Amino acid sequence: MTETNFRPRRSCLYMPASNQRALEKAKTLSADTIIFDLEDAVAPDAKQDARVQACAALQSDEYGERELVVRINAMDTPWFAEDLKQVCLSKASAVLVPKILSADDIQQITSLMDGWDPEVETQLWAMIEMPLAILNLSEIAALGQQKRLTSFVMGFNDLAKEMRAGHDRAIFGPVMTQAVIAARAYGINIIDSVYNDFNDPAGLEAECLEAKNLGFDGKSLIHPAQIDTANRTFAPDADAIAEAEAIIAAFKDPINAGKGVIVVDGKMTELLHFSQAKQLVATAAAIDALAQ
Ligand code: COA
Ligand code: MG
Repeated sequence: MTETNFRPRRSCLYMPASNQRALEKAKTLSADTIIFDLEDAVAPDAKQDARVQACAALQSDEYGERELVVRINAMDTPWFAEDLKQVCLSKASAVLVPKILSADDIQQITSLMDGWDPEVETQLWAMIEMPLAILNLSEIAALGQQKRLTSFVMGFNDLAKEMRAGHDRAIFGPVMTQAVIAARAYGINIIDSVYNDFNDPAGLEAECLEAKNLGFDGKSLIHPAQIDTANRTFAPDADAIAEAEAIIAAFKDPINAGKGVIVVDGKMTELLHFSQAKQLVATAAAIDALAQ
């Protein structure tokens, strides 16, 4: 992430693309990213209609600045190839592919996308939700060096099922850390999994805070009631912005010209903190710009 191309992804709201009412409502919601789902939330009989509705939404020009992503069906399903093609041709910001297992999967999807979208207008996002994907995290993330793969989205409902684990969030701590490290090593964005109990804002906030602290960019959401919590939690708070501005001002002060380490507000402050401070202020500015 450079300071100039940053785009907020604090709140990434899924909705079944078969649900026309939800698609309509999304035009008024303050989610940074909208994910039209063709996969888990859509019954087999509704798959074709959902694809048509998602593509119509992509082409409607009625979603303002919201980033539009489509989660398609997995590679081993009969819908995958047509989903991928239509979503590319409809110029989604990104296609989110579930059940990714390996770098080879990413290479296969990338070469298909290159055929329909040679200018790379549609990014590839990968769901990290299978045990093999966890084992192969570093080889998958390494493909972030190419232009297409830009985001990981964690899927802990599926991972818990595959692991035959319970739903205690603590189980996923090591995986979350590992996934953030892999993502950051190759410049990939990373979005936390969903919080299923959409009537529990305190529980959601706790998960958002944990994810933010681990380095995540934002959270996957399933209900409009979750948006404000995610937007607030993942945005830099006023104290953090003030601290960053003080660090930037101190390093820009001619008295500190050429110095690698200075003292700001009684704390050792190095050039890496200067760089972090600029990143944080750029993030806050990008969020402000969205609100305009
Ligand atoms: N996106 C957009 N709008 C949504 C929404 C979503 N994910 N979830 C609910 N809404 C809308 C409803 O349409 C309703 O709108 P209205 O007031 O204009 O009628 C309003 O928000 C309130 O919804 P509510 O009655 O509280 O929920 P519900 O019973 O209609 O739906 C769910 C509950 C869980 C079925 C629904 O939130 C949902 O489908 N979530 C996404 C599921 C998904 O995509 N899963 C895949 C990823 S895990
Ligand atoms: Mg799933």
